Amino acid sequence: MSRPADRLRVAMQKSGRLSDPARNLLKQAGFQFRSSDKDQLFCYGDGCAVDLVLVRDDDIPQLIAENVCDLGIVGRNVLQEKALELRGTAHAGLQELMPLAFGGCRLSLAVPNGLDWRGPSDLDGRRIATSYPELLGEYLQQQGIGAEIVALKGSVEIAIKLGKADAICDLVSSGATLVANGLKETEILLQSEAVLACQNTPFGDGRDALLADFLARIDGVMKVQA
Ligand code: PRP
Ligand code: ZN
Ligand code: MG
Repeated sequence: MSRPADRLRVAMQKSGRLSDPARNLLKQAGFQFRSSDKDQLFCYGDGCAVDLVLVRDDDIPQLIAENVCDLGIVGRNVLQEKALELRGTAHAGLQELMPLAFGGCRLSLAVPNGLDWRGPSDLDGRRIATSYPELLGEYLQQQGIGAEIVALKGSVEIAIKLGKADAICDLVSSGATLVANGLKETEILLQSEAVLACQNTPFGDGRDALLADFLARIDGVMKVQA
């Protein structure tokens, strides 16, 4: 796909917790698309200069960093994890433009229910399973804790049962997953929600005006809902 400078390309989650609220937000902001069929991964703006790209949420920050997409609607947790990963590379410079007040959750440490918890230093010399190795690594460094990070893409809660880890660091929303796995939340590393993400440098073409209009419309919807 070529990159026309007179259209704004927005990446969002194809299916998952953020996709319906994200679609509704765009709709309320007055953006319509030629296909609302979720199997269609590129949705051309209908009467507006904004196009949608439907992808895995984890891929959104990278697509923005590589200028494949201009904007993204993504969890702060995913954005910050990727921003840390890209630190010091040619693709650094991801930023959060605006919190969107949906998809609230937290990135937390959790340990087995039966375990006594005195504080983060209990994790010294332990193994922690997570899908957020960068955010966890930064936290451990700040706390001065020497723990081993066990990176897993998903189903992190099972790692303790499998003998792969002593604790986990994962997203908690309702808390049902922790309860189902006999775990208790002990420390919150990050409060997260869906955010608008982009790069921290202007486009330097027609997209700057499109972005200003996009932000004004989203902001308008947010103010009505607040
Ligand atoms: C997330 C997260 C937890 C669960 C927390 O997983 O990784 O497993 O949701 O939600 P709860 O507190 O409401 O139970 P998700 O369903 O997104 O699947 P994934 O881990 O495979 O990405
Ligand atoms: Zn994901
Ligand atoms: Mg999970």
